[in-house]
Amino acid sequence: MRKLTNILVTGGAGFIGCNFIRVLLTKTPDFKGRIINLDALTYAGNASSLADIEKEFGGSRYFFQHADITDRARVEEIFKRYDIDTVIHFAAESHVDRSITGPEAFIKTNVMGTFTLLDVARNYWTETRADGTKGIRNDVLFHHISTDEVYGSLGDTGFFTETTPYDPRSPYSASKASSDHLVFAYHHTYGLPVTLSNCSNNYGPYHFPEKLIPLMILNMLDGKSLPVYGDGKNIRDWLFVEDHNTAVWAIVNKGTSGEKYNIGGENEWTNIDLLQRLIDIVAAKAKLDPAAIRSTITYVKDRPGHDRRYAIDCSKLKKELGWKQSVTFDQGLERTVDWYLANPGWVANVKSGDYQKWVEHNYGKR
Ligand code: NAD
Ligand code: TYD
Repeated sequence: MRKLTNILVTGGAGFIGCNFIRVLLTKTPDFKGRIINLDALTYAGNASSLADIEKEFGGSRYFFQHADITDRARVEEIFKRYDIDTVIHFAAESHVDRSITGPEAFIKTNVMGTFTLLDVARNYWTETRADGTKGIRNDVLFHHISTDEVYGSLGDTGFFTETTPYDPRSPYSASKASSDHLVFAYHHTYGLPVTLSNCSNNYGPYHFPEKLIPLMILNMLDGKSLPVYGDGKNIRDWLFVEDHNTAVWAIVNKGTSGEKYNIGGENEWTNIDLLQRLIDIVAAKAKLDPAAIRSTITYVKDRPGHDRRYAIDCSKLKKELGWKQSVTFDQGLERTVDWYLANPGWVANVKSGDYQKWVEHNYGKR
């Protein structure tokens, strides 16, 4: 039986992690434990995303630790201080475009950071049994959050399943693939209890505005151009972030150790069709002229090695763990647009530093 009492969430100040922590502490009555949020607060991490949680649960069920997952001494200290029994590992460098212009940080955090966490967990969770032998406790779990991008790129047909061979094509997906292999290596070699999930593209509140959906929403509101890579026909499978997180919680509770689970939205859109849909929603809510917004669509140079299509077969998760998504795409997009309209302060805060510099360095002012 898994303890799930002192959960170390890494990357909890980022997009998916902060939504996960909020849902776990406010909308998951079966969870009675504590969350320790370990985050380095890179450009993508914002402690303010959890200010409400800090206020309500800080010091009792929520603890923030500003630390880097590659810093072994700090990770060891945190395991000890909070007697960690579960790791849910979100922390990563997560943006494909940044992995193209600066791959090193991806190798450091995604590969070395995951290795450090695995190795500290293995040591901390090793016990001496009654017969004098040493082994890893069976009431602990290391859950690794990964991406469908490790499987590579699909043609017009077919889906990624859990047995699709890995074929990563960007430094980001290669670093995530590497971390996935390390997770299973620690399971097979040392008996570390692990589960792993590969999810499709998420969207929702607190999404850093370098990713397609928030970038487009904010550019529409600011009257800026809408940069579409290549021919705009690349396909992604979109899932509302809360539905990703209910899947993660189901796997952490009921998933079989040593198994991986695909998570997807069964919701494929070309980028250009998605943008057209989003324009209608933003125009209606912000009282803007949709034709004027459409006139700002700008086809720009394609991303190098741009994966053409991602599509997930998540039948294993649905069949074995009974997960289903609860938010339709229209509902999710509306909630997302509403959130960005209501939170200009958050946006100004996250855009004020490194992000603006990175965009201008790589793309000029747009
Ligand atoms: P994000 O970039 O919004 O957040 C990443 C968080 O990790 C930030 O808070 C950052 O400060 C933290 N972090 C980065 N490097 C760190 C380090 N060395 N030590 C400690 N903390 C560090 O990312 P996200 O979109 O929330 O993605 C979370 C996870 O989900 C990642 O592992 C990503 O690969 C995976 N994933 C994301 C998507 C998606 O659509 N966003 C889809 C599938 C899987
Ligand atoms: P992104 O949100 O970066 O996620 P990922 O590359 O991990 O799928 O991009 C989603 C899709 O949108 C991808 O096909 C690239 C495309 N895209 C644009 O066309 N313009 C943009 O400005 C961005 C950021 C992405």
